[in-house]
Order: sequence, then C-alpha cells, then structure tokens
Amino acid sequence: MPDASGIELKRGLSGVYLDRTESCFIDGEVGKLLYRGYNIHDLAEKSSFEEVVHLLLKETLPNSDELNTFDRELRHDRTIPAPVLEIISQVKDAHPMDVLRTAISALAAFDPDVRDNSIEATIRKGLRLTAKAPTIVAAHDRIRKGLEPVEPNPNLTHAGNFLYMLFGKEPTEEETKLMDVDFILHAEHGANASAFTARVVASTNSDLHSAVVAGVGALKGPAHGGAAEEVMTMSEEIGSPENADEYARNLLDNGGRVMGFGHRVYKAEDPRAGHLRDRSQKLGDAKGQPQWFEILSHLQEAMKPYQAKGIHVNVDFFAGSIYYLLDIPDDTFISIFALGRIPGWTLNVVEQYSRNMLIRPLMEYTGPMDLEYVPLSERG
Ligand code: SDX
Repeated sequence: MPDASGIELKRGLSGVYLDRTESCFIDGEVGKLLYRGYNIHDLAEKSSFEEVVHLLLKETLPNSDELNTFDRELRHDRTIPAPVLEIISQVKDAHPMDVLRTAISALAAFDPDVRDNSIEATIRKGLRLTAKAPTIVAAHDRIRKGLEPVEPNPNLTHAGNFLYMLFGKEPTEEETKLMDVDFILHAEHGANASAFTARVVASTNSDLHSAVVAGVGALKGPAHGGAAEEVMTMSEEIGSPENADEYARNLLDNGGRVMGFGHRVYKAEDPRAGHLRDRSQKLGDAKGQPQWFEILSHLQEAMKPYQAKGIHVNVDFFAGSIYYLLDIPDDTFISIFALGRIPGWTLNVVEQYSRNMLIRPLMEYTGPMDLEYVPLSERG
C-alpha cells in the first residue's frame, strides 16, 4: 500500500520483477522449476551436472561429442595455482565459505581473461571457476586436517572427483550419483539473493570474479544457503523421531523458524526437495543410521499445518542429512551449495551483461530535513 507520500515500498523486493530471463522458470504456486525449459525432475534423474552446466552456459543440452569435449575442458581446468593453495594454507582456520570467497578472489589474478568482460570470456571464466571451486573446498579441508591436498583425478566426473579430493579415495557409484544430483538441484534458481547480488555487481560492469565473490558472501547467510547445516544441527538437538513434534512446537511458539522450511517464492513444496528425500532415506539405511531420515520425516509431519500458509520443505531440508551421512564436515555443507551454484551465478551475470542497466533502487527518506549546522566550538 502507498504511504502518505504516495510511495509504495517493496521491502525485500518481494514480488518485484527485475528483468526477463530465458534460463530459469519458477512457478511458486505449483512448485515447478525449469532450466531453459527442461523440468528439474528430468534433469535431476536423467542428466548429469556436466550436461546441466552445458545447458545453462551454452544454452543447449549437449550431444555425446559436445559433452565429451565440454567435459574434457572442465576436467582440464580443475587444478589451482600454487600461490592460491598457499593462500588457502594461510587462512586454513577460517570458515570454508570465507576460504572459498578468498581463494576465488585470488584466482582472478591468475585468470587470462580477467580484464575481459565479454560474454564469451565471462563464460570461459565461469567454467574455470566451476571446475576449480571443488578443488579449493577439498584442498582446504585436507590442509586444515593436516593432510596433503589430493590432486584432481581426470578420470572421475565432476561430482566423483570432488568426493575423491575430499576423502582421498574414490567414491562409490551411489555416492557419486548423490553428489551429482545435489549439484544439479543447486545449479540455478533465478533471482535468488546470491544471484541478485551477482547481478548488481555485473550491472556496474564489474567482472565475474567480483560477482561470484559477492554471491558467495550472500549465500553464506542461514536465511539463504546456510540452512542445510542448521537442519542437521536441529536434527541432532531433536535426537529421536518422537521428539520432533514437541521440538517444532516449542521452536515456533517462541517465534523461531524451522530451518529447511519456507521459501520466498515456493508456496507449494520445493520441487527439488523430493529428489533428496528418497536418497536421504536410502543412504541412511545403507549407513545403518535411519534415525536422521525418521527425524526429518516426523518434523515434516509436524509442520503439515503450516502448509496452509504456504510453508513447505525447501531444497535444503534433506540435503544436510545426505552430506552428514557422506561424512562431509557440517561447516562445509554450505560450500557444496556454492559449488553447484557457480554456473547459475555466471548465467545471471551473462544475462545481466547482455541487456545491462545499472541496478540502483530508491530509499524513502524519513529522517529530519534541513537542520542548521552548528560549528563544533558551539556544540554543547
Ligand atoms: C534457499 O530464493 C531462492 O531461490 C533461494 C533458494 C535457492 O535455490 O537459491 O531456493 C535456496 O535459500 C532455500 C531457503 C533456505 N532457508 C531456510 O530454510 C531458512 C528458513 N526459512 C526462512 O527463514 C524463510 O522461509 C525464508 C527466508 C526462506 C523466506 O522468508 P520470506 O519469504 O522472507 O518470508 P517471511 O520471513 O516474511 O515469512 C512469512 C511467514 C512468516 O509468518 P507471519 O509473520 O506472516 O505469521 O512465514 C513464516 C514467517 O514466520 N515462516 C516460517 C518459516 N519461514 C517463514 N515459519 C516457520 N518456519 C519457517 N522456516
């Protein structure tokens, strides 16, 4: 509603359309998500992260030859320069997202296209960052544990190689598939807070590395990317399935938020959540730890009354249990979200460049007007 001065605030830019896009369609009312016209359900179950990155940044699903060439380039770009590894060692005690943000910033100094903001160069830089970011996250975790970083393995897929570099042993087919599906589900999601942040940076004609560093910063907040870790913390506090209902009620009665629920756009279930639900249950059974899925299921049941208010599980609700069961450190859950989202941020930067206009909203001023300036010597 407009206020007395006729100004209508759009706080949080809720419901505001910034621009047009051809890359991501979201229908929040029915819980539908398309990447360049392809349904997330098909992409999650039938494609690979490499295919999805090609779709997002090269605009088409690749044929076999195109995929082989594309995949070879990604595999070739996984290594990070020694000085960047040294920087990671220098900041090894920082949070993994702070290390990722710092290392991506440092990578700019080694990128041959760093001064080229053309669409083609931006896509090349985005692909290099997509390929290198898993190496940063894995190397950091090894270094902070006093272990030697593991060199990327060119024989493994993007997802398989990440787990290989993290744990120093080849993952199973199931573990690789899990990670691959997770990367696909997190790859792109329209003008979410971190993608919007990247767009704002791109709108000033700044470069991709600056936009991705800003996106990492925005994603780090628990209201956006940090929920998966908080869901796991909540599950550990609940302890057993029969406590879930009381836990949720106490949390909500005290004005708290149940993490992994709710979404600014989805008022039906987030279509990505189901692809992780079944896998969370299967992995928990395989690892002899079914309790986490049971706790999450009871929590989802306890939150059913909130569905009437459009509050459903989102993509982060089951993700945390999967990362936990894969022995990924809690503070690294959010970094995995970032690894998946780098292609999405790159895509938003490219779209912003292609029909750019400086993003600069207004603020309604409600402070005092035209005060008299009193010299310091005369102030009481
Ligand atoms: C992601 O935007 C994207 O696309 C993001 C994302 C992506 O792929 O990039 O989809 C990924 O960020 C998923 C969201 C992860 N965050 C969480 O799970 C944190 C918990 N959820 C929230 O805090 C919240 O739902 C937000 C921040 C995600 C969205 O909040 P909004 O749109 O700003 O809505 P709001 O805070 O104004 O809440 C509206 C109502 C409120 O009740 P009333 O005051 O109207 O009575 O819904 C309630 C809120 O209290 N509500 C919740 C709730 N989330 C909203 N109540 C309990 N538990 C929750 N989780």
